[in-house]
Amino acid sequence: MIPTRAFWLAGRAASGEKTLAISSPWTGRLIGKVSVPTDEQVEEAVASAYAVRDEFAATPAYVRAAALDHVSKRLVERSEEIAQLISAENGKPIKWARGEVGRAVSVFRFAAEETRRFNSGEAQRLDTDTGGQGRLALTRRFPKGVVLGITPFNFPLNQCAHKVAPAIAAGAPIILKPAPNTPLSGLIIGDLLAETDLPAGSWSILPVANDRMSGLVQDERLPVISFTGSERVGYAIMDSVPRKHCTLELGGNGAAVVLADFASDEDLDWAAKRIAVFSNYQGGQSCISVQRVIADAAVYDRLLPRIVAAVESQVTGDPSDDRTDVGPLVSEDAACRVESWVDEAVGSGATLYTGGKREGASYAPTVLADVPADTTLACEEVFGPVLTVLKVSGEAEAFAAVNDSKYGLQTGVFTRDLQAAFRAHRALEVGGVVIGDVPSYRADQMPYGGVKQSGVGREGVKFAMMDYTYERVLVLTDLAL
Ligand code: SIN
Repeated sequence: MIPTRAFWLAGRAASGEKTLAISSPWTGRLIGKVSVPTDEQVEEAVASAYAVRDEFAATPAYVRAAALDHVSKRLVERSEEIAQLISAENGKPIKWARGEVGRAVSVFRFAAEETRRFNSGEAQRLDTDTGGQGRLALTRRFPKGVVLGITPFNFPLNQCAHKVAPAIAAGAPIILKPAPNTPLSGLIIGDLLAETDLPAGSWSILPVANDRMSGLVQDERLPVISFTGSERVGYAIMDSVPRKHCTLELGGNGAAVVLADFASDEDLDWAAKRIAVFSNYQGGQSCISVQRVIADAAVYDRLLPRIVAAVESQVTGDPSDDRTDVGPLVSEDAACRVESWVDEAVGSGATLYTGGKREGASYAPTVLADVPADTTLACEEVFGPVLTVLKVSGEAEAFAAVNDSKYGLQTGVFTRDLQAAFRAHRALEVGGVVIGDVPSYRADQMPYGGVKQSGVGREGVKFAMMDYTYERVLVLTDLAL
């Protein structure tokens, strides 16, 4: 019998009346049960966070840093168990799940480090004009208030880490709502925070159903919303609360550009391998997975067969097996949607080079070319193991093709030309340009986020802390400057 797991309400374990069943996308079997908070318990969590906000903002940096270091250390100690949990509830191959735990370890460590250096303040002399004689402005950052963090299923631990760790580092209480189909990994963060001395009320982890989220979104005691998920839901949230501060990390249809100079056999082997791995990692369920390859005509004919071969060498199957590269998608519904988009593209004239088959929740790694520009696959984020390849003539056409998208999250550019790298940085309408690799590269301390329909605001520990706080100036008068 599988016991029902408690959630975390104002720093203590609590149970509600209803239960959420979590099943494996691979086996379909029940792997866990989570208690769901009642409306009264949600209210208690919000009221506690709101009540503790001033106390938490004033908590000494060493206390918050110690708590964050503790979580980082404990994630290391429990890493294998947590990786297995991520793999079980999400269907992510175990090797990728292990990588995710390692990243969350770093996120909490970075947050501890930032806590120690954040907010020492910046002094600015004001006696540059007569009216400011003897005056000095000291600017420091203060939390905007309680943060509501809403996370998706695709990185069920690390996305939660990216909401919780910067909030604690900035001294902002947080209510975290993990994805309903993968709440178990996020709740582990609660297990570890509960071992620290952070004030009760400063954090809660509430597996509230999506259709009951609007109460939290509308609550005026939660002025900051940090959402990662779909474009549709993200903008619906933002439009419903125009006066709140919303950070939205939304979709992308990441492009990998291969320029004409990246042409040796070793270069093309490397590009093909990286593209194959990162169009399929986590079943393509990452906002920065490679969805589009944009290759110069000078390398296209040598690159395409390499990509197809590298994609075909991806090992598919049981996510708990160390050898597996590509497991199932999060659900059979998700795989059916991917199948329908590929079928539509092929029906409209696209050429299928490999893949294009579904079995339950699994979809075979797929490569297509000649995809008509008006198909769903060409326009939307596929969030599945599907890659489209486009031939272009020259750098300007390649960059224009990247920008010909409603999304703008990250782009990878395979080139060895430093000038081309700078031109890419200037020309591409995205939040990040990665030279010599795929768009899927993300270091958790660097700014991460998009432009256009990919969202607003930035994560990456220090950048999320900036998002959660605002500048407040202290003007000192009558000083001997
Ligand atoms: C995302 O899917 O936006 C997150 C990607 C990552 O953290 O690597």
